[in-house]
Amino acid sequence: MIPDEVVEQVREAADIVGIIGEYVPLKRTGADFRGPCPFHQGTRRNFSVSPAKRMYHCFVCSESGDVFKFLTKRLGMEWPEAVKLVGEKSGVEVVDTKVRREGPDPREPVWELHATAAAYFQKVLWDEAAGEPARAYLAERSVSRAVADDFGLGFAPREIGLMRSYLNALGFDDTRLLEAGLLATQDQESEPRPRFRGRLMFPIHDVLGRNVGFGGRLLGPGEPKYLNSSESPVFSKGKLLYALNRSRNAIRRADRALIVEGYFDALRVIASGIEEVVAPMGTAFTEVQAGLLRKYSRNVFLLYDSDPAGLKATFRAGDELLRQGFSVRVVTLPSGDDPDSYARAHGTAGLEAQISTAVDVFDRKIQILERAGWFGELQKKRRALDRLLPTIRATSDEIMRDLYIGRASEVTGVNREILLRELGTRPREAAVARETSRESTVPAVKPRPIAIRGRAISAEKELVRAMLQQRSRAESIAERVGPDSFTNRNYKAIFAALLRAGEEGPLEEVVASLRAEDVMVIEDLMGDAAGYVYPERTIEDSISLLHAREIENRMYEIQRLRPIADAAQQERLDAELLQLNNEIGRSGKGVAKTFRIPNRSVH
Ligand code: GTP
Ligand code: MN
Repeated sequence: MIPDEVVEQVREAADIVGIIGEYVPLKRTGADFRGPCPFHQGTRRNFSVSPAKRMYHCFVCSESGDVFKFLTKRLGMEWPEAVKLVGEKSGVEVVDTKVRREGPDPREPVWELHATAAAYFQKVLWDEAAGEPARAYLAERSVSRAVADDFGLGFAPREIGLMRSYLNALGFDDTRLLEAGLLATQDQESEPRPRFRGRLMFPIHDVLGRNVGFGGRLLGPGEPKYLNSSESPVFSKGKLLYALNRSRNAIRRADRALIVEGYFDALRVIASGIEEVVAPMGTAFTEVQAGLLRKYSRNVFLLYDSDPAGLKATFRAGDELLRQGFSVRVVTLPSGDDPDSYARAHGTAGLEAQISTAVDVFDRKIQILERAGWFGELQKKRRALDRLLPTIRATSDEIMRDLYIGRASEVTGVNREILLRELGTRPREAAVARETSRESTVPAVKPRPIAIRGRAISAEKELVRAMLQQRSRAESIAERVGPDSFTNRNYKAIFAALLRAGEEGPLEEVVASLRAEDVMVIEDLMGDAAGYVYPERTIEDSISLLHAREIENRMYEIQRLRPIADAAQQERLDAELLQLNNEIGRSGKGVAKTFRIPNRSVH
């Protein structure tokens, strides 16, 4: 038996359009989505899915129902299985009480143990001499006793035996402590030791408030700064959001969630009075985490660090959230600040003022690219677009998506139709490549270069091998090809070292100047060289192949640049393409067949 309110929760959280859309091609028609009916095998769009009503309905065969009925009818699933499956996709935990009746949740003993350990850590923090450094640490960070207690903070002592004997005395034996990951053994012989030692402990709860694990912070410098419980069926950090159990009602009420990076950020902001806060636990924001949040609000504000790593995390989280239909805004705190330090210095009002300057995540991306001058020169513009397109692709809300396309067009000066084509390209191109690999006709675009690139890697290897044999040619080779033509880092390093050493430099010196991994590669190459007959030929062929690859890479780049270039730029690109085509024709590699050469200039 699955409790009715859980079923209701799952139904409410479910993305019915997304789920049915996996089986039926749906297109938006007003507020609903339409597609061919899978039940009477219709071909017209008579089958309608209504996200508002959370129902589907066919106007021809009258089949209708909710998302669970769809799955039972369409996939022949049992109803409880359907509820569980949808629950999983939507981040709602579905516990079948049939399983309950057969016995308690197998994770219960671990929750219980964690809760007891949390109380122990708390006792150490406040009542024991061992807790003094942690008390001082909290005082220094301006965390009051009341706030610390509110979050259940504790301290895991450095001593090896204390927690163990305390919990043993309460009837938790070592096996349980080991299973829960509170103790760990290095090897069979050694005594089990606590996983957390000398750390300030943050109990971590799942959305139903069960203590599933801990995050522990060192009081001083050291690595790792934070240590979480190890991954297990009970604790999986990518499936949890810190503080969600306590902030979810506030998130629903405020209809927004602030996402901060760390435990202390969440603690501080919540303590300052803004309660709608969660923190992922040092992971990239996951699909499951987005699913957990969706039930409470679709509006999120990301308050990550503004350093490059923080920005990267911001945009990754942004894409994941956009994929699940959130509206995503970015709050940029003054550099060097995080929500903890900012709220501490400027209070709730200060933080709210910052939040009110939040910028949509896509606009933030544009802002950053713009400030770095990425929308000027063609080559950069291409790379800027390459960063914008994935976010547009990720955006599932069609209105947002449309807005984003408009913005991208505005800032790049590339018109909408071309952007739409670019957006469609990737998946379609892949499909074409897959299709054609089975057929004999080679289309004008992709497939062939893979062969060239593969051959070019072995050309790097053969060139280096031949050079090891014919050191006397180093100089003449250096005139024609440089280390930058190499992509494999070992061959590149060896090649560069051989050029440096010249014809006379003893091999021992070359070897001495290389990394261990490069030396291993050299040894391999030398060991292999026994039956080698025509080093000159190999050198010639390898060099032309490397040249061909460079030309080919540029030709591909031109293909990518052409659609977003203006008329004058297009003319220059065409001229260059023609010239490259001639060059590559001369080198006899035949790569050019892969490219469309502008007609008017071909004689
Ligand atoms: P404080 O220095 O205590 O203020 O930390 P913070 O909250 O500013 O955290 P920071 O920006 O250093 O890291 C953000 C979050 O990433 C932390 O709350 C942790 O969840 C996680 N994190 C940081 N360092 C580590 C680490 O060394 N190991 C692991 N597993 N997680 C970490
Ligand atoms: Mn911090």
